[in-house]
Formats: sequence, structure tokens, C-alpha cells
Amino acid sequence: MSGLANRYNWVKSPLIASAPMRLISGPALAHAVSSAGGFGFLAAGVDVTNLSQDLQTFKSILSTSPVPNYSLDVLPVGVGFILWGADLQHTLQILSQPDTPPPAAAWLFAPSNPSQLKSWAEGIRTATESKTDIWVQVSSVADAIETMAVASPDVLVVQGCDAGGHGRYQSAGLISLLPEVIDAVSAYCDKKDIPVPFFIAAGGISDVRGVGAAVALGAEGAALGTRYLASEEAIIKKGYQDAVIRASDGGVSTVRTDVYDKLRGTANWPEGYGGRGVTNKSYEDAMGGKDFEENTKLYKAAEAMGDAGWEGEEARMTTYAGTGVGLVTKVMGAAQITREVRGEK
Ligand SMILES: Cc1cc2nc3c(=O)[nH]c(=O)nc-3n(C[C@H](O)[C@H](O)[C@H](O)COP(=O)(O)O)c2cc1C
Repeated sequence: MSGLANRYNWVKSPLIASAPMRLISGPALAHAVSSAGGFGFLAAGVDVTNLSQDLQTFKSILSTSPVPNYSLDVLPVGVGFILWGADLQHTLQILSQPDTPPPAAAWLFAPSNPSQLKSWAEGIRTATESKTDIWVQVSSVADAIETMAVASPDVLVVQGCDAGGHGRYQSAGLISLLPEVIDAVSAYCDKKDIPVPFFIAAGGISDVRGVGAAVALGAEGAALGTRYLASEEAIIKKGYQDAVIRASDGGVSTVRTDVYDKLRGTANWPEGYGGRGVTNKSYEDAMGGKDFEENTKLYKAAEAMGDAGWEGEEARMTTYAGTGVGLVTKVMGAAQITREVRGEK
């Protein structure tokens, strides 16, 4: 049994995590993944207002449908935070409620600066008496070493350039990035005499072959976002889900860009981050030099159209997804996805 499956006793090896996806990864998805021996994440994202409620809902699902083998001192779930926007003090209040076990992991992503990452890691460890593990998602060797220096995480999620949603523009594919990060971090830990973290791979992994490749490269498992967009439990508009299933050839059909951030008005990401998604008319018009106000007006009109905003030649709505979209061909239950990508029938 691998180290992480020992650490989280409901988890089977290789570890399959459903990545925290803002507005999409809710309690039902996280619970289904953890129930199947994976590691489900809720997504607080940049706004922790709904986190208490999400944890309560998770607990109430858990009480009627227990996750096999979990230990009672933590909830068998993680929570993802986008650090540049989320409120640390409010988070610490929520995570330190005496009557509720804290989540087993906090997944930290996109700090404005290293000292913010340090405050989050230290704050969460203190508030939860180190019951909540610190996972940090990084997308370069430099990020990984800096993260080790300020936060010494239990788990490093190494995000390759194929990942859906936000990530760094300057990043490599997992096949070169992951082993280089593992070597550099291992050497750093050896020099500093600190424990080597566990490594999880993220980015473009949509099936059992991708998970096998991640393990061959040295990871303990994989975090999947795009594949879980096509789960029954994802909180997602049908038009968005259909667009993910329709899309193929992800290196051609998706791109990392800030066009959709601008159109949606979420343009506070730190320098160097963009969101990867399926391209459509909004992107084409922006690249073609269409006036921003006009493009925004058309985007808002598409939003008002509901599912149709993702359909046809005039599709304009944000469809964040990774290059693995072409391997996502049908909607399935999240538990079944988890078992299938782990290599079970
Ligand atoms: C729709 C969507 C939303 C995402 N939202 C978040 C988020 O809120 N926080 C975060 O740390 N990562 C987020 N990500 C990135 C994931 O953590 C992860 O890196 C990515 O999904 C892995 O690549 P894949 O989509 O190819 O599986 C998101 C990804 C997608 C597709």
C-alpha cells in the first residue's frame, strides 16, 4: 500500500482526487469520490461564504452514507482555496469549529506572494492542530522549491500545462515537469533535512492510462478536474457539460487565455495565470480584435440564453477544460469514474 493510502485510510492506491473546481465541485461530488476510495475535494475558491454550509451538507450525506474506513478525527474530504481571493481569518474560524472534525486536507493554489502561502499553511495547521494536511498546487520547479521553503506541504500537486481551468502560462507537460520537480524537491529536502512531500500529478489526465503514466513518473496518484466535469454529481450547466463531451483534440480545441476572465469580470488573478478552456466565438472575436465592450455584451447575451450559450457556431460561454477533453466522452457517476481511472472494472 502506498504512503498516501496509509495516511488517509479510506483511500485506495493509486490515489485519485477530484480537483477542487470553483462553483462545480460540491458535497455530492466530493462524497461520491471519497466513497469510492478516492479523495474528494470541495471548492471554496476565492469566496469562503458557502464553505460552512458545504461542510455541513457533506457531513449530513456522510451520516446516511458513510465513507468506508475513514477515521473519525477528520472528515474524508478536502477543501480547495484560491489564495489571492479567499479570506484566511474566516477560513480559520470555519476550520476550527470544536464540534466538527476538520477536513483531511486543504488544497492551496495561486497565492499573491510567498508570505501569503506561508500564513495560510501555518494558520490552517494551528487552527486544526495539524489534523488538516496541507496540499499545494504548483506548476513549475521554481514554484515547488519556493513552496517547500515557506509552507513545507504534506502533498505537492504538480500541475502540468495541459490542466483545465487556471494555471501558469509558463509551464511544462507532466512528462518532463513531474520528474524534474520530484528530483529538485527531493534534493532540497535532503539538504534541509526535512521530509519529502508526497506528489500528485494534475493536468490532462482523463483515464487509467494517464493515471498509470503519472505513477510511472513518480506520483502517488492523480488529481482530475476535466474528467469529473462529466460526472452526474458535478454542479454544471448541461450546455457546458455537453460542450466538454463534444470537444476533441484538446491541444487544438482548448487554449490557456485570460479572455474569459475578462468577460466574466474575474480578472484579479496574479500575473502569469490564465484559464484553459474550449475556445469558442468569444475567444475568436477577442483574437480578431473585436471591441471589448461589444464582446462583453454578446457574452452576457449568451449567458442569458442558458444551455444554448454553449451550443453551435455562436457558442460564447466559458468552458474551462483541459487538453484531456477528447478522452471524456460520456457522463458517468463520480464513484464509477474514480474506480475506472484507478483501473478497476
Ligand atoms: C472547471 C475547472 C475549475 C477549476 N477550478 C479550480 C479551483 O477552484 N482551484 C484550483 O486549485 N484549481 C482549479 N482547477 C484546476 C485543477 O485544480 C486541476 O489543476 C486541473 O483540473 C487538472 O487538469 P485536468 O482538468 O486536465 O484534469 C480547475 C479546473 C477546471 C477544469
